[in-house]
Amino acid sequence: MAYGKPESGAMDASPMEQLLIWLREDLMGELQAINQYQAHIDNISDPEIKELLSHIRDDEKEHVAEITHLIARIDSIQQQKFASDHTVAPENRVVAASEENKALTVGSMFGRK
Ligand SMILES: [Fe+2]
Repeated sequence: MAYGKPESGAMDASPMEQLLIWLREDLMGELQAINQYQAHIDNISDPEIKELLSHIRDDEKEHVAEITHLIARIDSIQQQKFASDHTVAPENRVVAASEENKALTVGSMFGRK
């Protein structure tokens, strides 16, 4: 297992794996909070409260970015996955400059000519 949840009956996760599990759980909580604030914003008519909740929602988006970056610093596979935009066709992907000199894998070769 590479930084994933241990299977039932398996040995406990290493401290680094456990940290990543907690960070991913924290990330899920932040994403759920964004959705919850947005649902409340959409259903509240008071402009002052809407503005305050929008501010809080945007803070949660910052937390998502912070946790995402923290996960990428710890999990090199995740960092590799963030290095290129996987939402575009492979032939249109741009590989980050920091990834240019790394060993090639099947996945890292997308977007190269
Ligand atoms: Fe948060």
